[in-house]
Amino acid sequence: MDQQLNELQEKLKDILTEKRFLHTLGVCHTAACLAMCYGADIKKASIAGILHDCAKCLPDEEIKRRCKEYQIDMTDVEERNPYLLHGKLGAYYAKINYGIKDSDILNAIIYHTTGRPNMSLLEKIIFIADYIEAGRKEISGLSEIRNIVFHDLDKAVYMALENTLKYLNKQIANGQHKEIDKMTLNAYEYYKSGIMEQQNEE
Ligand SMILES: [Fe+2]
Ligand SMILES: [Fe+2]
Repeated sequence: MDQQLNELQEKLKDILTEKRFLHTLGVCHTAACLAMCYGADIKKASIAGILHDCAKCLPDEEIKRRCKEYQIDMTDVEERNPYLLHGKLGAYYAKINYGIKDSDILNAIIYHTTGRPNMSLLEKIIFIADYIEAGRKEISGLSEIRNIVFHDLDKAVYMALENTLKYLNKQIANGQHKEIDKMTLNAYEYYKSGIMEQQNEE
């Protein structure tokens, strides 16, 4: 394995819980495979994959406190749901603690939870690798996404966003006080209209 990746892996092993570390390796490997398939930079995909959850194993209040301390912008929804901030804080750590300067890698880490409209190829790869990696437990719709992700990346991203919104809406209906980040909605609308256009052309 590449030396930089090896070093990152060793550091993250000490920081993350075992479960999160195994998930991280799964995202790293899946992202590398997707990069091979779609002609993206394999090393960048692996680095973004290995670092994407580097701020995940912190308590909500600490994530919030550290974002304030480092002057990371927070939306109202993020402030009420600090777990949403682990992408932004993770990108900060990737830059400051792990020396990552590439803005595409940093953006892939920032937007891996919510997605965003018009994602770069690397952003889409990390977003979907996080959703489908082999260690993820089987949830409704996951096998369909795994079936198409190596043929139609945008459709897989759309399906993952749709699934996420369905899940969040169910949580809201059950009174579990989950809010939907606007970025997820915007990303969903963007990829939905892309799929519609594609269907109209066929
Ligand atoms: Fe995450
Ligand atoms: Fe993750």
